[in-house]
Amino acid sequence: MVKKIAVLTSGGDSPGMNAAIRAVVRTATHSKLETIGIMQGYQGLVENLTIPLNNRSVSNIIQRGGTILRSARSEAFRTVEGRAQAVETLSNLDIDALLVIGGDGSMRGLKALSEQWSGQVIGLPGTIDNDLFGTDYTIGYFTALDTALDAIDKIRDTADAIDRVFLVEVMGRMAGFIAQGVGIAGGAEEILVPEQEVKLESLAQDIMSAKRKGKVSFIIVVAEGAYEGGASLLSQTLEQQTGIECRPCILGHIQRGGSPAALDRILATKLGAFAVQQAVQGLSNVMVGLINQQLVGTSLEQTWQQKKPLDPYLFELEAILAQ
Ligand code: F6P
Repeated sequence: MVKKIAVLTSGGDSPGMNAAIRAVVRTATHSKLETIGIMQGYQGLVENLTIPLNNRSVSNIIQRGGTILRSARSEAFRTVEGRAQAVETLSNLDIDALLVIGGDGSMRGLKALSEQWSGQVIGLPGTIDNDLFGTDYTIGYFTALDTALDAIDKIRDTADAIDRVFLVEVMGRMAGFIAQGVGIAGGAEEILVPEQEVKLESLAQDIMSAKRKGKVSFIIVVAEGAYEGGASLLSQTLEQQTGIECRPCILGHIQRGGSPAALDRILATKLGAFAVQQAVQGLSNVMVGLINQQLVGTSLEQTWQQKKPLDPYLFELEAILAQ
């Protein structure tokens, strides 16, 4: 029977992680479980950096970005020896179940830990990238979309005023969910994602034909991993090919910050509570997620082994609407 759980946040932080921690702690209290917070992700497990958590320690955090438990990308935890130290921390604390909020790297880390530790392990999808299989959305994605959209709307004003092409680079090294979402919501003329090859020549043709048709502003949303050299190099190349002034704008880490949007808080709250309920029922080696409004568990390996597809219908619409 589960009596004591531990929770940590790992990898790139995302808005809504605090809302998830709050839901975990308060659901655990409701189920008469004790909760320990691990600081600085897996590194904190290796170094035994822990704090007790109770309902009061998670007051007034639901609206805060970042993570009260802090986060890290731990090199030590990638080694068998590092994970053995993590196991020692968990055993010394008498932890029955470990809950990890993070992205694909964090899910891989959790799976690796489960091979050295007999306790229960449950993942929660926390990343702005939305690239985990096993959930329609990840905690932080909605806020990142809103942040990037606000920037794109502002860029549209200046692009429109002085007749330029703008290439707006958003996060997403391996997946184009932010680019696709924000591209559609911002009415972008082109959306470039790592999942599709960038065809330079037809891109240049599209820009020139849009200008001929009288389009004033032209916004290309570029996911980080869509083009080697990113939006900066692509901007130079397109300027040379079209003779039209192009400007890159890299949004960067502002996309990871800020107060979480309502949808991220609700998602984080559901997943945090559900993860504790799953632990109480004895489940392990799963990541919790929300698919078609149903709370589900997916085996940890599947979350990174299976590729979550971008929405093909949105790409069809992009082609129709960007004319
Ligand atoms: O949080 C996920 C992510 O934002 C990716 O989209 C991005 O490529 C990466 O993290 C950058 O993170 P860092 O600068 O922390 O390595």
